[in-house]
This record gives sequence, C-alpha cells and structure tokens, in this order.
Amino acid sequence: MLLKNPERDEKNLSLKGAVQISHSSFFVYEDKNGKKFLKTGEDEKLHKSIVQKMIDLNPHIARILRRFHIKPLIDTKTLNELTSGHMNDTCNIADGVYSLLSGEIKEKVDKSALKEASMLHDLGKVLIPSKILNKPAKLSSKERKIMNIHSTLGYELLKTQNLSEETLALIKYHHQNLQHSGYPVLPAENTASDIGVQIISIADKYSALREARVYRRRLSRTEALLILYREVREGKIMPAVYNALFKYAEMYDC
Ligand SMILES: [Fe+2]
Ligand SMILES: [Fe+2]
Repeated sequence: MLLKNPERDEKNLSLKGAVQISHSSFFVYEDKNGKKFLKTGEDEKLHKSIVQKMIDLNPHIARILRRFHIKPLIDTKTLNELTSGHMNDTCNIADGVYSLLSGEIKEKVDKSALKEASMLHDLGKVLIPSKILNKPAKLSSKERKIMNIHSTLGYELLKTQNLSEETLALIKYHHQNLQHSGYPVLPAENTASDIGVQIISIADKYSALREARVYRRRLSRTEALLILYREVREGKIMPAVYNALFKYAEMYDC
C-alpha cells in the first residue's frame, strides 16, 4: 500500500520509481522495512538529500562529473518540472505504444520495467548545469558532450536504488537506436532489450518534439511524425514501433 504522508526517517528512504495518479506525479520511496511512500516533486529538500545519497553511494558519479568539469549541484527544480511534464508524458506514450504492438512483440518487453524507466529516464539531468539544459540556442560540441552524459548519470544514480537490471538498462540506453549509433555506446554484453529501448526512445523523442523547447517551437503532430519517419527510413527505428506510435497519436489526438 502507498501512503502520501508517512512518518519516517528520510535518511533511510530509497527511490523506487515514479507514478502518475489522476494527472499528478509522485516519486515512490521505500523505507528500510519495505514500506512504500509517495512524495510529490515539490518536496525539494527530500529529493536533494536522496540524490545526494545516491552520489555518495556511487563514487563513479563524482569521477564522471570531474571528467567533464561539472560541479556536483543538484537541480531539483528541473527534476520537478521533468517529472510532472516530459517524463510523465513519455511514460504515457510508451504505455500507449506498447499496448498497440502485436502480442509477439509485447512478449519480448518487460512492461513494468518500461513504465518505471520512462518515468525516471531523465533523472540524470538533475546534475547537468542549467545553463546547458536551458540554453536558448544550439549547443556547442563540448556542451553537447556534457548534455549526452545525462542518461549515464541517471543510470549511475539509480544503480544505487535496487531497481531491476532491465529498468536500469532502459534508462541508460534511452538515446540508443537500432543501428546502435546513439549514446552511450552499447557494449558487446549489452543487456538492454532492443524493443524496450525502441519504445522508450520513440516515446521520449515524440514527447520532446511535441513540447516547446527554449531553442524551438512546439512541432505539430505531422511534423513530429515526419521527423521520426525519417529515422525509420534510416534504419534507426523499428517500423512496427513507429506504426504503433502513429496509431496512438491519431487515436488520442496528441
Ligand atoms: Fe534523455
Ligand atoms: Fe527525455
């Protein structure tokens, strides 16, 4: 059972996911006794302390930040906006795309991992400097490299929280494609399922294209679908996954 106002020791909570309940987003935390609690994204103090704990638990995060000369500042305002907007939206689209795939394809997807991963996929952005995240112009190649580590940072942060391997792999590779030309580089012993990555990736892209960004206007449904169709032709997106998104966008007029 999930409680909204628990009495608990915040230091012993771990982040287990995020959920949407009647148009509001909540983070799901678990205490050391396995009890689950919900907190809205507005509880900045709590989120900051949980993310800090993740950084302390995984020294690899500090090494990545040092390598890219990034100060370890936690931007929970971004996290709150992402959770109630883009990550929520990505989760709904991924769910819709999944539901419109054939039974044969669905069998190859871990549905709960897909849901969990889409709600948390951009968590790593809490550590990306906001002047890069919100730059109202094209990123320089150095800034692009920094931006692109958000999926690895999200993976490293959440690795400390006992999430499933599939959830973590989907978070790490949500910017990968069928040709494996996305980021980060897929290792030979990759555990991410191609179809799961395809669904989270197309949902992420479609949600982003349909939102206004500081550097461009919101694209129409036709414009967004056309951009993604080009990626189908380039062999980056599986046609079945694209067709499911196309149907979803038509059905829900989104
Ligand atoms: Fe992302
Ligand atoms: Fe995203």
